[in-house]
Amino acid sequence: MDELLSIRKSFQDEIEAAEDLTGLQQIKIKYTGKKGLLSAKMKSLSSIPPDKRPAFGSAINEVKNFIEDILTQREVLLKGKDKEKRLQSERLDISLPGKFIPFGNGHPIVQILEEIKDIFSSMGFDIEEGPEIELDHYNFEALNIPKDHPARDMQDTFYISDDVVLRTHTSPVQIRVMEKRKPPLQIIAPGKVYRCDADLSHTPMFHQVEGLMVDKDISFSDLKGVLELFIHSLFGKDTPVRFRPSYFPFTEPSAEVDIGCIFCSGKGCRVCKTTGWLEILGSGLVNPKVFEMAGYDPGEYSGFAFGMGVERITMLKYSIDDIRLFYENDLRFLRQF
Ligand code: DAH
Repeated sequence: MDELLSIRKSFQDEIEAAEDLTGLQQIKIKYTGKKGLLSAKMKSLSSIPPDKRPAFGSAINEVKNFIEDILTQREVLLKGKDKEKRLQSERLDISLPGKFIPFGNGHPIVQILEEIKDIFSSMGFDIEEGPEIELDHYNFEALNIPKDHPARDMQDTFYISDDVVLRTHTSPVQIRVMEKRKPPLQIIAPGKVYRCDADLSHTPMFHQVEGLMVDKDISFSDLKGVLELFIHSLFGKDTPVRFRPSYFPFTEPSAEVDIGCIFCSGKGCRVCKTTGWLEILGSGLVNPKVFEMAGYDPGEYSGFAFGMGVERITMLKYSIDDIRLFYENDLRFLRQF
């Protein structure tokens, strides 16, 4: 009985001193564990005279219950303290200013290029590419623009050598595609082009998207249908479209395509030079001479082609009046798109 009392006493001292859950766990094992002090006492019951066993047994149980109660209370207390400590050390000041993570987005030209590509892809056009450093043959000759042709005056060419140029338009991709593929085909060719020219509406490098569709029995109405659908997707379905006769060496007949001025709704303003119309692309039926030079039989196949300037279309779409803004990398401008 004395020993039981001293177990109880030493437990009380130790529990007072326990400051954390690990300490508490050790005490728990020491007193109530399988090989703990109380189990040892229980085992010693057998060596006690039978008549004293019940009293001694219930005394052990009493101490055991007492110890277990205190352990539970202590555990709740220490767990609370532990949590409090963790909350303190992990405390966040949610009123601190956050870290600014800058988001990038596509350049306006890239965005419009993507939009144009999406529209034509949805009509089944494949996307093709060609070199920016191009042979005179593909840039001019094979497009029915011979050396002395006046059309070469329209394009201020960067010559690398007599027969190598920076492509002045994406039209040479038409020839390269026809050389490697058989009809039927429908492609667009987006990319950079170069001309020695610089003012409010011209930069030495700019972007074009070329289009070409070749099959048996392609007619001007196919050209009109495709381009009208394109324009209505890009500028809105109520945009008026007009085909105006024009001339390009690589198409016959040729047409320039205008849309009703989006600034004055066709009434006439400074941007449309009071005509009510804005020119947005060149087009036509592929000239039989071009088919011949690319190795297609013009008696068997017909097709249409078109070409547009991406900067010009972007400027019209967003009312931008100076093309150079696209290439100054001024974030105040770029962030608006
Ligand atoms: N290549 C012409 C240019 O750079 C644009 C063009 C006009 C392309 C008519 C075409 C076309 O394919 O049919 O100005």
